[in-house]
Amino acid sequence: MNSAISPEDDQAIRFFRTCQALYALLVRQNMMFHQDFISRLRPLLAGRLTHHPCDFLDLGCGDASMALQLAKGHKIGAYTGVDLCEGMLSSAQDNLNVEECTVSLQCMDLLQGLQRYDDRADIILASFSVHHLSEQDKQRFLILGRQRLVDNGCLVLVDHFLKPGQDLQGFIHDVMVHYSGFEGFTREMADLVHEHVSTSDFPVTIEQYRIWGKATGWKTTVVHDCGNWAALLLEPVEEALAE
Ligand SMILES: C[S@@+](CC[C@H](N)C(=O)[O-])C[C@H]1O[C@@H](n2cnc3c(N)ncnc32)[C@H](O)[C@@H]1O
Repeated sequence: MNSAISPEDDQAIRFFRTCQALYALLVRQNMMFHQDFISRLRPLLAGRLTHHPCDFLDLGCGDASMALQLAKGHKIGAYTGVDLCEGMLSSAQDNLNVEECTVSLQCMDLLQGLQRYDDRADIILASFSVHHLSEQDKQRFLILGRQRLVDNGCLVLVDHFLKPGQDLQGFIHDVMVHYSGFEGFTREMADLVHEHVSTSDFPVTIEQYRIWGKATGWKTTVVHDCGNWAALLLEPVEEALAE
């Protein structure tokens, strides 16, 4: 593993360093709709995955379980996971040990990982990681992603989004109301999640992605929209733009 964590990245990942078990609980209880997104994305990715062993680039990979469930039943050729949190990468390594593919795990910022990726991926996945980036870096992510993809590849963006007309305060309010409805979501958990969401989450609307996507050579399809949680499929439409 390669370590390149800058101090400014620290704020966004402190939560995942200290609260990995809490995040795992949110996923296990499907509080962020992972299972809904997986069941809708799998048929859309199946064509690409059956064609040949795909090269998979997973940005903000966490424990890699999202990618592994999306690719379940298919052979991955090479898996590259990028994450700033060492603990997450260590869990990813455990989960990937049984896979018969080339594995590379990089401990670095996802934009840096994209920049350094010297291949072209068949599938780029960014699941609940890009909303931590600034608006400028979100657009950079789209430009770089377009350049690091094979012509018939795709970018899967599962993330937090603002609902139309919603501001950041409304987003924080609505996601906290949503989580609070789950049994076992304690006051202490709520405080930790609230601190993380209020300091590190910078979602934009799906419409904003459509606009940025169009400008950077992507066709954007909304695969499943759960309000503040959604899955988008972006496919290249034109020549990649220059960096
Ligand atoms: C909400 S978790 C998502 C994990 C997994 N992709 C999933 O869908 O369950 C966000 C992950 O992104 C990582 N992360 C956040 N900001 C990042 C950045 N700028 N570069 C790389 N990883 C980042 C965190 O460490 C964390 O593992």
